[in-house]
Amino acid sequence: MKQNEILEDGHGRRFYYLRLSVTDVCNFRCDYCLPDGYQAAPNASKTPDLSVAEATTVMGAFARLGTRKVRLSGGEPSLRKDLPALIQAAKTTPGIQRVAVTSNGYKLPSVIDSWHHNGLDQLNISIDSLDNAEFARITGHDCLPRIRTGIDRALELGIQTKVNAVLLGDGAQSRLSQFLNWLKTTPVTLRFIELMQTGDNRDYFASNHLRGSDIEQQLIESGWQLLPRAIDAGPAREYVHPDYAGRIGLITPYSKDFCNSCNRLRVSAQGKLHLCLFSDAGLDLRETIRAGDANALAEKVRALIGNKEVSHYLQKGNTGGTQNLSIIGG
Ligand code: 5AD
Ligand code: SF4
Repeated sequence: MKQNEILEDGHGRRFYYLRLSVTDVCNFRCDYCLPDGYQAAPNASKTPDLSVAEATTVMGAFARLGTRKVRLSGGEPSLRKDLPALIQAAKTTPGIQRVAVTSNGYKLPSVIDSWHHNGLDQLNISIDSLDNAEFARITGHDCLPRIRTGIDRALELGIQTKVNAVLLGDGAQSRLSQFLNWLKTTPVTLRFIELMQTGDNRDYFASNHLRGSDIEQQLIESGWQLLPRAIDAGPAREYVHPDYAGRIGLITPYSKDFCNSCNRLRVSAQGKLHLCLFSDAGLDLRETIRAGDANALAEKVRALIGNKEVSHYLQKGNTGGTQNLSIIGG
């Protein structure tokens, strides 16, 4: 592939979108992710997270390869004091048109104005239930009202806002009706995500996994209409309804052909390239990142893309090297 040509893998997929994890630390304890909270690796002298300068090199390299959108994720990215500087670095990288952050929203009301000021275009907040007590049970933090205040502020500022809700078996119907009620007047896109099995959550997965297709059928029967997909869109299917201000998206990694529309690559806070959420291991780019040469890094990524597998093979129970999603942020 020639310089300036957009990065494409051996299966004809193009990568417009980089998900850059800026820390693997999270302060929440979501049942399916970090039920016992974040644990630092024992005795490990951990490599420090990518600095703002290193993250700038990574984003510069991907922009040279055709990346147009960067999402800063975690762990919980707002645990980094310099997140506003990282947002600004993304926004000012030539070629990057959209900057998004995925957060648990813990600090949202006090930080959203500075994120906006530094160039944030899109915000994704994780809320699995709109019931305060249930939210506290799932995440270990009784702070849903504060997160909702932050979302209201993001909407006031004109930031495109999406809410991620992992589909969980028990009580799914009552959570759905609460979400629908909220979407009547709230202009966010709510994205239901099928629970994925990881190395750490096998038992939880076995008792809580719910197929998105049941909910999708229900939505269609009550008048929700599927939007046509943009050519460079990722794997979410989005629905609208004339009586609702909000939209609903479905992300169903267990459905057939889910991986065909993959348009993203991931880099961890340690500087490893993850070709898939469920790859066996990240490919270490740290040395090249540290050297600060975005062109050399771009060539390295280009050389590695050929190793991207056609599917995650999740349906076969493969979880690769992925113990939980806090390392590379979902
Ligand atoms: N399956 C599905 N979604 C998950 N997330 C974290 N772990 C899992 C899992 N095992 C979600 C979070 C957040 C997003 C970044 O990924 O709830 O919304
Ligand atoms: Fe929950 Fe995300 Fe933190 Fe995992 S990384 S515990 S899903 S908030």
